[in-house]
Amino acid sequence: MLSARGVTKRFPGVVALKGVDLKVARGEVVSLIGENGAGKSTLMKILAGVQKPDEGEITMDGRRLDVSSVAAAQAEGVSLIHQELNLAENLSVAANLFLGREPNRFGFMDQKTIRLEARKYLTKVGLEIDPETPLSQLSLGKQQLVEIAKALSTRAKVIIMDEPTSSLSHGEVETLFEVVRDLKEQGVSVIYVSHRLAEVMTVSDRVVVFRDGEKVGELGVGEATHEAMVRLMVGRDVSQLYQRTEHELGEPALSVKGLRTEANPDHEINLQVRAGEVVGIAGLVGAGRSEMLEAIFGMTPPLAGKVQGVLPKSPREAMSLGLAFVPEDRKKKGLILDLTVEENTSLASLKMDARGPFLNREKEKRLCREMTKALAIKTPGPWQKARFLSGGNQQKIVLAKWLALSPTVLLLDEPTRGVDIGSKEEIYQLMEKFASEGMAVLFVSSELDEIMGMADRVLVMREGRLTGELGRSDFSEEAIMNLATQS
Ligand SMILES: Nc1ncnc2c1ncn2[C@@H]1O[C@H](COP(=O)(O)OP(=O)(O)OP(=O)(O)O)[C@@H](O)[C@H]1O
Ligand SMILES: [Mg+2]
Repeated sequence: MLSARGVTKRFPGVVALKGVDLKVARGEVVSLIGENGAGKSTLMKILAGVQKPDEGEITMDGRRLDVSSVAAAQAEGVSLIHQELNLAENLSVAANLFLGREPNRFGFMDQKTIRLEARKYLTKVGLEIDPETPLSQLSLGKQQLVEIAKALSTRAKVIIMDEPTSSLSHGEVETLFEVVRDLKEQGVSVIYVSHRLAEVMTVSDRVVVFRDGEKVGELGVGEATHEAMVRLMVGRDVSQLYQRTEHELGEPALSVKGLRTEANPDHEINLQVRAGEVVGIAGLVGAGRSEMLEAIFGMTPPLAGKVQGVLPKSPREAMSLGLAFVPEDRKKKGLILDLTVEENTSLASLKMDARGPFLNREKEKRLCREMTKALAIKTPGPWQKARFLSGGNQQKIVLAKWLALSPTVLLLDEPTRGVDIGSKEEIYQLMEKFASEGMAVLFVSSELDEIMGMADRVLVMREGRLTGELGRSDFSEEAIMNLATQS
């Protein structure tokens, strides 16, 4: 049904797509995978009218499609759920759902119809919320579900999902899969872009693999094994994703006592992480894990409690105590999109430089080179603005910025969200390396694999409190899930 032929897209310093083809049949679910910066989002944006190709054409049922703008593409039946959410925070959920529609179709809708319509699509994605809720009050995961509801409401023929599950909970992912199955039954096609290979295996009829702007392979249902996908993506085997070595633990390097957060004022959090120790925090989305890290780092100052003996009042103070924090929501809290890669990587460490306001250009350059190399950050050069990097590469910059500080305590919130498997391996290796040099690492992850693969010890949270602790020898998915869900 939908076909892209010979699509080429150039940006200053990069050729994002080099004459690629992609075909999607009616009711087919095609997954698109590839390393960070492979060109996946760029092709999806072209299909949805967000960006214009330099060469190539898009057709539907043999007819040339007008994808010269988002509205045009939507009118042709192509709808995109963005990788980086594209909603208006200050508007209500309902307003977001119907934002940007042609007024002749929706302009006459009264408030009541809007609410009813909104409810209908929200229910489809499993969101039982008042459509009048301001979007800003929803968690990242729920906002993502609103984006999905929005795409459903356009009655598209092709729905493109660019990493739709990166901040969804396990249950929400299941709901999404049901939505995909429903769409398929109705003859709607889905293009599914994801780094989560297990999900790709579950949902897709066919898997297409991109590398460096080119299609390097295609796998049918039976062929799309984890190994086959990784080999095509990375060009080598990644069999040892988690390479842990046992190292000696030192004194407690992070001490949190009697911490009470604004989100969960009734529970006290107490924990310690020793030098050289990697501690994972598991729990369902909404269990209060991010809130806890943000409180420890003084980003949302806690109501009470002590971190390293003092009440953390600001990130600056936490930094002076040797803490560093890689937040989950990189776009809002981690990056300055209009600064260059070089400026972003050196931001945190330069603030720490006690010698005054003079920027040390040489040091900044060196740092940037080291970090882009260590994390394999794909950028045409240090001069590129962070805004123009692919999603996964933005995540790596946030990581680079904090690692450049060589902190004594590293707090990480979903460190590999949206990161391709090759780079995951690199990030794990860095975590391991830093721990072996005596850093204390405390990380939140929704991927149990990652927690069990990397942590010396797991703390489990539920409803704002720590509900349990497991040492490596007691790790099992079941044990962790029990602590995360029991009441
Ligand atoms: N607006 C832009 N200006 C300049 N370069 C861009 C722009 N958009 C994308 N690029 C570059 O094009 C390449 C492909 O990026 P794209 O976002 O398509 O990758 P991706 O496969 O979606 O990666 P990820 O898995 O990290 O999301 C990257 O090198 C990126 O930096
Ligand atoms: Mg992308």
